Amino acid sequence: MPEPRDGVAVILLDHPPVNSLDHALRARVAAQLQAALADPAVAAVVIAGSGQAFSAGADVGEFGTPRQQQSPVLPELLDGIAASAKPVVAAIAGVALGGGLELALACHARVAQDSARVGLPEIRLGLIPGAGGTQRLPRLIGLAAAHAMMADGQPRTAATLAQSGLFDQVVPDDPLPVARALALRLARQGGGSCQARQAGLPAAQVQAFVDQARRALKPRERMQPAYGALLDALLATSLPLPQGLARERALFLSLVSTPAAQALRYQFKAEREAVKLPAALQAAPLPVRTAAVIGAGTMGSGIAIALLDAGLSVLLLEQDEAALARGRQAIADYFQARAQAGKLDQAQAAQRQARLHATLDWTVLAQADLVIEAVFEELAVKQAVFREIDRHARPGAVLATNTSYLDVDEIAAATGRAQDCLGLHFFSPAHVMKLLEVVRGARTGKQALATGMALGKALGKVPVLSGNAFGFIGNRIYNAYRRQCEFMIEDGAWPEDVDRAMTGMGFAMGPFAVADLSGLDIAWRMRRAQAARRDPRERYVDVLDRLCEMGRLGRKTQAGYYTYDQGKSSGQTDQTVRQLIEQASARRGIERRPLAADEIRRRALLAMANEAALLLAEGVAARPGDVDVVLVQGYGFPRWEGGPVFWARQQPRERLEAELDQLARAGGHGFVRADLDPLFLS
Ligand code: 3HC
Ligand code: NAI
Repeated sequence: MPEPRDGVAVILLDHPPVNSLDHALRARVAAQLQAALADPAVAAVVIAGSGQAFSAGADVGEFGTPRQQQSPVLPELLDGIAASAKPVVAAIAGVALGGGLELALACHARVAQDSARVGLPEIRLGLIPGAGGTQRLPRLIGLAAAHAMMADGQPRTAATLAQSGLFDQVVPDDPLPVARALALRLARQGGGSCQARQAGLPAAQVQAFVDQARRALKPRERMQPAYGALLDALLATSLPLPQGLARERALFLSLVSTPAAQALRYQFKAEREAVKLPAALQAAPLPVRTAAVIGAGTMGSGIAIALLDAGLSVLLLEQDEAALARGRQAIADYFQARAQAGKLDQAQAAQRQARLHATLDWTVLAQADLVIEAVFEELAVKQAVFREIDRHARPGAVLATNTSYLDVDEIAAATGRAQDCLGLHFFSPAHVMKLLEVVRGARTGKQALATGMALGKALGKVPVLSGNAFGFIGNRIYNAYRRQCEFMIEDGAWPEDVDRAMTGMGFAMGPFAVADLSGLDIAWRMRRAQAARRDPRERYVDVLDRLCEMGRLGRKTQAGYYTYDQGKSSGQTDQTVRQLIEQASARRGIERRPLAADEIRRRALLAMANEAALLLAEGVAARPGDVDVVLVQGYGFPRWEGGPVFWARQQPRERLEAELDQLARAGGHGFVRADLDPLFLS
């Protein structure tokens, strides 16, 4: 601890990169606080962060380990701060999240820089705040505002909370000098006065709020124990603070080992691992300031928006003026809508659009550091486009294709610089979806790969490395899942049984509702393209083809696996579809039987896990966690279930193997049964 100046001792949180409050840091802070309290030269204390953070909260790596329970545990440290006879002021710059914000809440006063980002994200880890957050925050800013912060887990800037009662002062610059002055003032006044009050909030008001919030819980929130526990903790705000804190702690500890919390911690780690290339592939990324996007359709416009939002200059190219104008308009509409919704001010919206240059003149490609192609999904078209890119792009520029299924190597072969080519597989809508598959072709160089990964991070996405194989990681697993679901309707389930089973475990939509939404004709086209190569012995469910032949292409024709009444959000059961399915079962000689939701889920998850093991064995996915990140970020797999690999690892191995044998038998010819070992390697 630096020498106290003017009677103020400053305790610096110093555990890079984000000052997570692991045992060692907690012990240092406790010792420094004790020393400050014992030193007659110290009248007041300021706690400040260092680097980019005040503190990102409890150390996630410590959860479930003995160190988490080793004294001083976080609540113990915070009790010491709150009870300090000398005022303690938090000086907050950078992030103050979870236990980090709770540390600040235990102080007698708080000064924050306006750009500081504060929040209680514990719910995203399957937890509730466990060191006073649920008790002190509502006492300071009110139940509704506090609940909103804890239930969405999103950080907010100090500027937006300036009037909330959370901070004593919000300042434009370094908060430390202001915190020092405030600390001294409090010392002169004889202690802190800005602490969360000790008394409980009015019981009737608390009860009414909690009852209402409980009724408003959404189905996916009800599936996660932390949402209900958060309301139980809020109920305790009507108790005196010490009792409220004890109740909160008990609830927090009851959540730490729940399957949901374990899965969410696993996802937290897997996501941070996925964005790093394996050691053998690492290289310094090239700077990307100007990116070109070719094709201004659904994906091209979305990708352009993502690039503009991240501060890049964008060159947008098309084949004709009408398509270019459509893309330009879609982008303008998007920024306009954001400005109208108050998410951007008009100046920001204008600034972002000003960085867009939409043109039919391909010679501008010479200005691009990186080019992303998003034209029609046809090899010949893409190859022609890449030949053209090769003619104009400057040497060393990174050249990417957004293809969903085509071979990245065949596209790269149209250029004389395959080392600079790779796949950047965005998901729709590209400015919203977090997943980005970064596809490594046979000749993709390390620098191009590193640049693709770095671009993903710069866009706020989760980039995941994938090998160049049909469907990459995500679509390959999704296809295996969808195929298994088709088997299940042939075996006896109805589409709605399957959809209900999957939404019942937290998928946003079931596979058949998704198919209807995206349009059955895309899959139909691909199936017809593959028909000549399909082994006739393969188990193949032709319901989708029959639906398409009948003109039932999904939602866009008001009919697919379901029928859609105009104005209604969900589809209705259709007897024609049931007959088609029954006919398919009969043709295969299957005596239909009802499938329980649990069986449906297990078969779906097993099919995904099986495909994951194949992808790992083939080296398409580099790490088991990568597969789970892809499914969660791109395909609506419930995050609190961890992903198919995580799920498989929770199952007794013998049961898994036996059920997979059964699945392989039922899948018949064409079902490749994986060796599951790769799923269990860390
Ligand atoms: N514990 C341990 N490590 C953490 C951490 C935490 N709370 N927060 C971040 N880290 C680590 C990351 O794992 C990563 O490590 P790596 O370099 O080895 O991969 C490193 O810090 C940097 O993190 P990011 O890559 O995420 O960096 P960003 O700059 O993108 O984001 C951040 C920084 C906003 C702080 C983000 O990491 C974050 O949101 N962290 C989680 C914060 C959180 O959930 N806190 C609540 C913890 S639970 C709690 O406090 C319980 C309490 O109520 C009792
Ligand atoms: P789209 O049909 O909406 O847009 C394609 C655009 O490319 C059109 O505007 C067209 O005019 C333009 N184009 C075609 N040939 C061109 C050429 N020679 N030069 C310049 N522009 C040309 O298609 P969408 O949906 O945007 O898909 C584009 C690519 O993204 C495809 O490869 C697709 O597989 C892939 N993709 C699509 C996803 C989706 O959900 N739509 C998701 C992920 C990838």
